[in-house]
Amino acid sequence: MRPDMTRQTPRVGIAGAVGAVGAAVARAVVDAGLGTVRLGARRPDRLRPLHAALQRHAGPAGSADPVEVAELDVDRPGELDRFCAGCHVVVNCVGPLVAPRTAVAAATWRAGAGYVDPGGDEALARALRGQRRPEHSTGLVAVGVTPGLTGLIPRWLAGLGLEPPLTLTGYVCTQEPMTPASAAEFLLGVGTDGESGAAWRAGVRVLGDLKPIPRTELPFFPGTPTAYPYLSAETEQTARALGLDEVRWYHLFESDGQVLPALGRLAEQAHRGEPLAGLAAQLANASRIEMLGRQPLQQLAIQLAGRSGGAPAHRVAVLRATSTYDLTATVTATAVEALLAGTVPPGVHTAAEILDPALVPGLAARPGVAGWHVLEDALPSYASIEQGAL
Ligand SMILES: NC(=O)c1ccc[n+]([C@@H]2O[C@H](COP(=O)([O-])OP(=O)(O)OC[C@H]3O[C@@H](n4cnc5c(N)ncnc54)[C@H](OP(=O)(O)O)[C@@H]3O)[C@@H](O)[C@H]2O)c1
Repeated sequence: MRPDMTRQTPRVGIAGAVGAVGAAVARAVVDAGLGTVRLGARRPDRLRPLHAALQRHAGPAGSADPVEVAELDVDRPGELDRFCAGCHVVVNCVGPLVAPRTAVAAATWRAGAGYVDPGGDEALARALRGQRRPEHSTGLVAVGVTPGLTGLIPRWLAGLGLEPPLTLTGYVCTQEPMTPASAAEFLLGVGTDGESGAAWRAGVRVLGDLKPIPRTELPFFPGTPTAYPYLSAETEQTARALGLDEVRWYHLFESDGQVLPALGRLAEQAHRGEPLAGLAAQLANASRIEMLGRQPLQQLAIQLAGRSGGAPAHRVAVLRATSTYDLTATVTATAVEALLAGTVPPGVHTAAEILDPALVPGLAARPGVAGWHVLEDALPSYASIEQGAL
């Protein structure tokens, strides 16, 4: 049954709703009043606490329950079709360890709904573009922090009155226990989605141009992390879209932690074809050990440098989140809102290439965001600022 987009209360299906992102997306969708949520899980009994919390959040006793609960194993096609029927949007929070996302997207489109995936990358977008789908169907992938906001924020900064030549510098720090699906996605991305050590210069990817910077001190980031240069497909796409002259992009890791040493070895094993679930479990475990006794840190500092009035000028965005999962869910809920509003054209897109960058500052007031600042001096000039001074 195809939902009538114009007359019904929108229904948003969330596959993998007990997961870290799935549960947070459910909260964000209800919080934003976007409609009814249909929570899908292999064991629906595990959804009880979330269901109860969403009911409390949604309104006084006696008001219509905005939450439906369904048994869903995405590897069972009949169950998947029943889950998608009647949904306006289906958010796939199951990740890469199970049924191919192409199958979940196909079921979504058969039901006449829009497909949203907080994970995936340009390669997933290409795979979805290559499959048969109804003429007016829509898919949005890579709708999270990285990828997602890491492509949208530079696009937003580019609208703040800078003239070329433009240079982008990004630092992304995600230190939080990894979930199984997120660890698997991370392993899949390393080396296939981008290039370690690559920079962008004058319209081309320059391999091996940048070296890791061990034990560095960076404005707004605590401690002395290791900055690992990585040019992802998303950042390359951003560079092309904005006509950037140079890009240097780094992921920050705990210098004495467990994740960085494990990552290279596990990614190598993943690319040799060893079973992903076991490797992802090892990476998730390394992140849990690394995080023992520590607070999660999700922070981005992104600088676009150019010229203004004939003089060098800078725009720097600093974003701090309570959790990468909550912030991803906020971005995903924003994408769901855009789909429901009909502002996303048919086709399969990554979030960064299709969502309006103007929505970025509005995220500051949404769940998961602990701080959002826009500064106008070059990043290094903030080097003497103490942690927490912003
Ligand atoms: N772009 C970004 O910045 C970003 C950041 C974080 C996450 N993500 C993406 O968000 C997605 C979810 O990540 P997560 O951290 O929430 O992972 P997670 O906590 O491991 O959740 C995955 C969920 O999928 C469920 N699941 C597994 N197999 C299933 C099946 N056959 N049928 C139905 N449900 C199944 C699991 O339920 P069980 O309990 O039954 O196993 C679990 O609840 C991933 O694609 C990840 O890459 C993106």
